[in-house]
Amino acid sequence: MIAQIAQLREEALKAVESTKDLPALESLRVRYLGRSGSVTLLSAQMKEVPKSEKASVGKALNALRTDVTTALESALARLKEEAERKALSGVDLTLPGIPLSEGGMHPLTQLIDRAVQIFRRLGFAIADGPDIETEWHCFDALNTPEDHPARNEQDTFYLPDGRLMRAHTSTVQIRTMVSHPPPIRVIAPGAAYRRDEVDATHLAQFTQMEGLCVAPGIALSDLKGTIEFFFRELFGETTKIRFRPHFFPFTEPSYEIDILSDDLGGEWMELAGCGMVDPMVFEAVNTHRGDRAYDPDEVSGFAFGFGLDRLAMNLCKVSDIRMLTENDVRFLQSHAFKN
Ligand code: DAH
Repeated sequence: MIAQIAQLREEALKAVESTKDLPALESLRVRYLGRSGSVTLLSAQMKEVPKSEKASVGKALNALRTDVTTALESALARLKEEAERKALSGVDLTLPGIPLSEGGMHPLTQLIDRAVQIFRRLGFAIADGPDIETEWHCFDALNTPEDHPARNEQDTFYLPDGRLMRAHTSTVQIRTMVSHPPPIRVIAPGAAYRRDEVDATHLAQFTQMEGLCVAPGIALSDLKGTIEFFFRELFGETTKIRFRPHFFPFTEPSYEIDILSDDLGGEWMELAGCGMVDPMVFEAVNTHRGDRAYDPDEVSGFAFGFGLDRLAMNLCKVSDIRMLTENDVRFLQSHAFKN
């Protein structure tokens, strides 16, 4: 038996060492160590070995299995390395690489990031809502009556099932209040959609940022302070901000916000809408929630919303809004904002 083991060991190690490829190595593994491989079969003969020799034969068998296994492993490593070397042999590693052109962060993304950073310092969280909305979230709950022009089929994209592509991010005000009791302090950057003819100043999908703050005792001065802080952080200390009385169905009183800043070309620019949340909006939310969490006698709030596309255009000094959607890598490379 000991002689048989020695013979098998010599044969196996020789065969393994001289294998030329991986499939041959695998068949050797099966031939020696497989379920009916020679090492396995030899081990099965242990039963017939006389008791006095069992210990030494067992030891020799174990050593055989270990040695064959080790030989197979080192042959595997050798063959793999050879294969890799062969695969690379046609490649000239000294050739120069193909230059990768680097893009850049989209101006709108940069703008959102900066705006979010500023509002976070004021304790605002980020809220979200779906782009496909119900008429109720987009209009009714925002106190926008059935005959309001914004609800016109010429202005809004309606889906066959009666839902629509949200015409503004103000829907997120409603989503947030329906799912969370006050106090609320959120901003919601996101896409909005209008049935606009696409040209140098219009896109059918654009980007807005909504804000909502509701708690007991929130006043118009809180709205003014927040807006002024935000735009001064964004455009610098010398930025001038003015509030012009306006009308929005979901705020009362309502204002439009104009900004004067060198970054924006040194002319007054109408940038945002804002106001104190209309009690009718709170009542629509209460009805939907089935409670009085937003009792207008207990809480008050302010809201604002502005478009980011025109802002990005001004900051990047591009005159055609379509540049924002064309995915031209040269545009992305050359429009990093200064910090
Ligand atoms: N949703 C308005 C729009 O798209 C912008 C707006 C105005 C949002 C006043 C507000 C607000 O939250 O209070 O034109």
